[in-house]
Amino acid sequence: MKIQDATVLVTGANRGIGKSLVEEALARGARKVYAAARNPEAVTTPGAVPVALDITDPAQIAELAARLTDVDLVVNNAGVALGKSILNDDLETIRREMEVNYYGPLQVSRAFAPTLTTREGHLLIINSVLSWAVVPGTAPYAATKAASWMLTNGLRLELAPKVGVTSLHVGWVDTDMTAGVTDEKVSPEEVAREALDGVEKGALEVLVDGTSKQVKAALSLDPSAIYGS
Ligand SMILES: NC(=O)c1ccc[n+]([C@@H]2O[C@H](COP(=O)([O-])OP(=O)(O)OC[C@H]3O[C@@H](n4cnc5c(N)ncnc54)[C@H](OP(=O)(O)O)[C@@H]3O)[C@@H](O)[C@H]2O)c1
Repeated sequence: MKIQDATVLVTGANRGIGKSLVEEALARGARKVYAAARNPEAVTTPGAVPVALDITDPAQIAELAARLTDVDLVVNNAGVALGKSILNDDLETIRREMEVNYYGPLQVSRAFAPTLTTREGHLLIINSVLSWAVVPGTAPYAATKAASWMLTNGLRLELAPKVGVTSLHVGWVDTDMTAGVTDEKVSPEEVAREALDGVEKGALEVLVDGTSKQVKAALSLDPSAIYGS
């Protein structure tokens, strides 16, 4: 699908990758970009249409999906990184992370599926290299992104042939989420460009950086290729 003249909805659009996705969609000539945020007043992008959405609130999701029947592209971007350890973090934190990163996109995708089907639109889900591998300090989050990756694949099957589905994978991106990370990071603007290039080409997967490409390739090898012996 072409972004030009399309109507786009981005979740978590007030900052980070979501904000860059809104800017990139507008730069490509989208007719309308709904910038969904828990606090719509935090959306500052000129030209965007702020809408209130907490992706863990089923009533708010249903109300928005019933109202925004002009959406051609839904971008499930909103997410959190809360837990660091499966053993030492409290279960509520670990459940909360799954609630946002897995059940959030699941509920938003279900709610917008009828509109996307009618309009023969597209769904983009922002996953991670951590859908495929764990590094220290990321295990609970990685589990949510693995679940979200398989959610993306399941949606692709169930939404075919009318709706295209793209899964985006990337390593560290320079946003608030990685404020404590000193390793090399990709810019959110680059992620947004690659993401919308992928949507326009109908790509099933977008691998933004070298880390994502290397880890994806290593999945066919013995696990020691990723985790050591
Ligand atoms: N940064 C990375 O290295 C990286 C790498 C791979 C994938 N990702 C994924 O990319 C996506 C965006 O991350 P980011 O780096 O841009 O993070 P970020 O800067 O921390 O932004 C996260 C966004 O998600 C929103 N959000 C959190 N919980 C929400 C909820 N319950 N309902 C609605 N919105 C909610 C936040 O809203 P508030 O402002 O209200 O908190 C914010 O807009 C996430 O899915 C993340 O897992 C990030």
